[in-house]
Amino acid sequence: MARKFIVGGNWKCNGTTEEVKKIVNVLNEGQVPSSEVVEVVVSPPFVFLPLVKSLLRPDFHVAAQNCWVKKGGAFTGEVSAEMLVNLGIPWVILGHSERRLILNESNEFVGDKVVYALAQGLKVIACVGETLEQREAGSTMAVVAAQTKAIAEQVSNWSNVVLAYEPVWAIGTGKVATPAQAQEVHFELRKWLHANTSPEVAASTRIIYGGSVNGANCKELAAQPDVDGFLVGGASLKPEFIDIIKSAE
Ligand code: G3P
Repeated sequence: MARKFIVGGNWKCNGTTEEVKKIVNVLNEGQVPSSEVVEVVVSPPFVFLPLVKSLLRPDFHVAAQNCWVKKGGAFTGEVSAEMLVNLGIPWVILGHSERRLILNESNEFVGDKVVYALAQGLKVIACVGETLEQREAGSTMAVVAAQTKAIAEQVSNWSNVVLAYEPVWAIGTGKVATPAQAQEVHFELRKWLHANTSPEVAASTRIIYGGSVNGANCKELAAQPDVDGFLVGGASLKPEFIDIIKSAE
């Protein structure tokens, strides 16, 4: 089953209005493969979502970096899935390790968020990944399987879910996973989906890699059979993001 390559740019907590406009200009001028070949999603901080959506080329899409776990109301500081839908934001990133580790978001909480966001009509990039300590203890697969299980227990329709494998030790460290390391976990994740969801879900769900992806290392990673794209942090704020999008070809 063909899986369309997808490249996400997670801008995290970065940018001023002027900087955001500059990044969007670079994206808008970039020569990239058609949207038949690659799906591009950029994720600015909440406050810049309407601006980016209004300026961004129509073949690229916008994602929020988080949303609330249930219907909005008395939850100071949160942004609901309904609000994102109301603004015409099609995607949301959920379960990023920075939220899991710094804000103590549990597997179950992330699962709850994913199912709620999907029910509101959002497409979800759901992040999983192990810490260095967990990798060194040999528990990489147990960790990512438990994170994925908490999602799979609640989600029956996976067509609007992309799984992002982001090893924590590779995020923002310049220490990218080798293509073999990425492929190994993506393959195992797909096997897990096969056994625990369905062969169709396993074959069609896109599993993307995140963690120190840049213009120089993206091609070799993209060539791995189970790597269906990237979730890019630091390099998504730079012109080399265009080169990463081009690795889809
Ligand atoms: O979500 C993307 C991410 O966490 C990877 O960040 O800066 O290592 O590309 P970076």
